[in-house]
Amino acid sequence: KTIDELGDLTGKRVLVRSDLNVPLDGPTITDDGRVRASVPTIERLARAGAKVLVMAHLGRPKGVPDPAFSLRPVAERLGELLGQPVLFANDTVGAEAQRISAAMGDGEVAVLENVRFNPGETSKDDAERGAFADQLAALADVFVSDGFGVVHRKQASVYDIATRLPAAVGGLVQAEVAVLERLTATPDRPYAVVLGGSKVSDKLGVIDNLLEKADTLLIGGGMVFTFLAAQGHRVGTSLLESDQIDVARGYIERAAEKGVELVLPTDVVVAPRFEADAPATTVAVDAIPDDQMGLDIGPDSAAAFAERIRGARTVFWNGPMGVFEMPAFAAGTKTVAQALTEVDGLSVVGGGDSAAAVRQLGFTDDQFGHISTGGGASLEYLEGATLPGLAVLDGADA
Ligand code: 3PG
Repeated sequence: KTIDELGDLTGKRVLVRSDLNVPLDGPTITDDGRVRASVPTIERLARAGAKVLVMAHLGRPKGVPDPAFSLRPVAERLGELLGQPVLFANDTVGAEAQRISAAMGDGEVAVLENVRFNPGETSKDDAERGAFADQLAALADVFVSDGFGVVHRKQASVYDIATRLPAAVGGLVQAEVAVLERLTATPDRPYAVVLGGSKVSDKLGVIDNLLEKADTLLIGGGMVFTFLAAQGHRVGTSLLESDQIDVARGYIERAAEKGVELVLPTDVVVAPRFEADAPATTVAVDAIPDDQMGLDIGPDSAAAFAERIRGARTVFWNGPMGVFEMPAFAAGTKTVAQALTEVDGLSVVGGGDSAAAVRQLGFTDDQFGHISTGGGASLEYLEGATLPGLAVLDGADA
């Protein structure tokens, strides 16, 4: 069901699950992309005359209230973006949430405190999760699932709630799924997939699935040193997952068998320490000094990656190419991001880290075809996994 199919929402209490899990520096939001992405659905429901109760998580608190993970600053930002006051409940399903839910007027918006302050939210025990979902359901008449970044979680506010209230899919989830569907089902070719980030082990499923679909697979970031080791290179003190070297070798062989072009860097930026002011030098991948670590792909590699990206009609990118937070090791990520902005076709930036990276490096959202709000969720979608938060809306089990 879509929001339109819910009928007249005037005076209805609508519980919306949004993904407002933003990076914070103290109380300051350092990237409000997920809040901005959540606005259209909330605004639409408010304009339709609904009483909008927003539920979300922030970080990974341990099932008890923890002020460091309060959604209050996020609720304030949401109010600024909506251009209307946003009520805030100090609890999620307690007396204050109940009072606000009962008293709010048509078109008003309230944010409930972090759902993960309640142990039932993330419990593996169906009954415990269900009991918390019952309390959430008691606050509202209808549920709208709009937190794309959490649809891969079988959690009370994402999954169980949808079996307790009439449920609809929100516009953000619809838009995200439509784009990811294009990447898996019918990509225009050439199709290039760019993967970075620190660990190969986080990307196994996505490499497995996309190796069959992509024309070119470009690999950078910390995970590349496991691939370079698989090619027989010495990688110094770089990040290395020794237990994944055989897996990486398997991917290199499979790519060759399938005719997929797998591109690894030919040069890397190395430094003796993982520090912003460590002296950085560029070396060929077969000349990494034993006492140095690779912290970015080198300029020749970045140029080669950029050429493949610009020549593609569909590009999916997840994971920074280097330690982009430190200027000396940001060039590879910046060059890749720039190339994505020049794609004549669909360019998709997936993942919390990559989205934060492009914004931190000065790019704007409208320079890309799509910036996904989902990190783990978009990867799991591309792996072909069943996402509980989507399956439950289809009436399927997860
Ligand atoms: C994310 O940051 O990818 C989502 O908000 C999900 O958060 P989680 O990994 O803590 O479930």
